[in-house]
Amino acid sequence: MNEHAAVAACCTELYGHPLASTLMGLSFHPGGLRLTEKLATLAGVGPDSLVLDAGSGNGVSAVHLAKTHGCAVVGVTLEPQGVQAGRVLAQRSGVAGQVEFLQSDVAKNDLPADHFDVVLMECVLSSIHNKARMVDRLCRSLKPGGRLALSDVTRNGSLPGEWAGPVMSALCLNDALGLDEYARLFENAGLTVEASDQEDLVVSQFIQGVRGALLVAEVAAKLGKLGVDVRHISTAKRILDDVDGLVRGGVLGYGVVVAKKGTLWNLHESSNQPTTGEKNNGAQADSERQTSPHQP
Ligand SMILES: C[S@@+](CC[C@H](N)C(=O)[O-])C[C@H]1O[C@@H](n2cnc3c(N)ncnc32)[C@H](O)[C@@H]1O
Repeated sequence: MNEHAAVAACCTELYGHPLASTLMGLSFHPGGLRLTEKLATLAGVGPDSLVLDAGSGNGVSAVHLAKTHGCAVVGVTLEPQGVQAGRVLAQRSGVAGQVEFLQSDVAKNDLPADHFDVVLMECVLSSIHNKARMVDRLCRSLKPGGRLALSDVTRNGSLPGEWAGPVMSALCLNDALGLDEYARLFENAGLTVEASDQEDLVVSQFIQGVRGALLVAEVAAKLGKLGVDVRHISTAKRILDDVDGLVRGGVLGYGVVVAKKGTLWNLHESSNQPTTGEKNNGAQADSERQTSPHQP
């Protein structure tokens, strides 16, 4: 099994497990819907927008955007439980006609080109092995003038050696980048970064929430009422303590980056520019993609 497949398998198991919602709540990212709303505002989501929620988890953000902004949303995630949870939530929230959920791997399966006004990616890119390729695919799926809106774990410094491996990657820790590195990835794909903010406070709040839920889960597991081995709860507590230490030490944090794809006019302009050096001129790459439908 290659690295991507191993992380994808861990994501499917982790986020599809009932314990994930018990510990993290329905929204699987620090900052919850408040941060989703910040991204939506920065990305200019409105009633006419078509949004892709790449790695939609339980579908909470997708349903929230449809409900509060009146937009249409496609949520794509790996775990079938997330697709099911999203559909039920959309139905209950009265937005089933605006939101669609699909079980698919956005790193592997083709997305339509020039299709979405906004691509939202909350706490997902950090777990992707080939990030440049993923950003390129997402960028291609944006309409000219569309925006890629990311919130994710940030990492400045190295993590303990034993943190390597697919589980830590699936938890968005092991392969997280610094905020500047996410921004550079976007620029290398031809996007223009419009906003880039560190939001570290939300991780401490997230950790506090998970810590409280773990205490309750531990009691329930000891009473045999959770259907989970109490040793798993102890492991989760230990990982959480380590994460807390790294957050306090400034190694791990959380951030948002929003970047815009050039309009057709920009793309045309840049395709007339000579190429300079080895750095990928993203706008030019985009204009080349317009004529190359099979480019991944
Ligand atoms: C930390 S959760 C975040 C879920 C959601 N974005 C949220 O904030 O509530 C990561 C999610 O990304 C999904 N994911 C990871 N890699 C993916 C991929 N290659 N294609 C589709 N979904 C992916 C996982 O299945 C999981 O639901």
